[in-house]
Amino acid sequence: MSGIVFLVGAGPGDPELITVRGARLLASADAVVHDRLVARELLDLAPADALRYDVGKEGYGASVPQASTSELLVRLARTGLRVVRLKGGDPFVFGRGGEEAMALADAAIRFEVVPGVTAGVAGPACAGIPLTHRGLSRSAAFVTAVTATGEAPDWGSLAAIDTLVVFMAGRAARAVAAGLLAGGRPLSTPVALIRSATRPDEEVRLIDLGTLAQTGAGEPDDRPALLVVGAVAALGHALAWRRPSARPSAARFLEAGR
Ligand SMILES: C[S@@+](CC[C@H](N)C(=O)[O-])C[C@H]1O[C@@H](n2cnc3c(N)ncnc32)[C@H](O)[C@@H]1O
Repeated sequence: MSGIVFLVGAGPGDPELITVRGARLLASADAVVHDRLVARELLDLAPADALRYDVGKEGYGASVPQASTSELLVRLARTGLRVVRLKGGDPFVFGRGGEEAMALADAAIRFEVVPGVTAGVAGPACAGIPLTHRGLSRSAAFVTAVTATGEAPDWGSLAAIDTLVVFMAGRAARAVAAGLLAGGRPLSTPVALIRSATRPDEEVRLIDLGTLAQTGAGEPDDRPALLVVGAVAALGHALAWRRPSARPSAARFLEAGR
């Protein structure tokens, strides 16, 4: 009998941020196929004798080709196993979970998707940035700075969206800023550069678009990085709940953003 594949979101990094269902499925998995950045504590939830496959990439290094990962999932399920495909954040947010689901559907393998806390939501939350703060932001969009074809996002059409969360932004940060400025965003637009959100090496820098255009993300860094662009990013000064000693009053950031 054919097995089943669970496409499980591992959350943004902190192992406590996986869902209860994801943790339960891991505990009864026969095989775990995981991204490299997934926390060791999560892999330890699987039974000691579960098969484990690392198919992720480290920073900008080489990764297992997507087709091989999909083939592996199909092959494991065909031997009757309960397979957990553990992916960072949410499986369907820039995670290529859709491609894996299609391969499973094509092969008539049963699968289930278990949503995860995407870094696009967890990063801003941990930096004290409410993505849709009333009065400052009525719209938010997830955008990738890097595409498979190398083509840049249409920054001009994105200019009308109040808050942009830009994934895969580390090395592309300067190009992102240039595109947004060309698309009509002011130099003074608040920006948060968030690295390794929810992990021990988390770092948040609150700057503006003009500064980002000049400096980019700084020294090359293998930590995952995203940008939050828009008035709400400035609230990270006042609502930095992970660094409470650094907090000024929120009122002036609300006024400045209106
Ligand atoms: C291939 S995408 C996967 C996104 C994932 N599926 C999600 O929902 O968060 C990888 C990108 O997600 C972002 N990312 C993932 N984890 C992150 C974290 N802990 N802190 C900051 N950015 C993160 C970065 O932009 C990184 O380049």
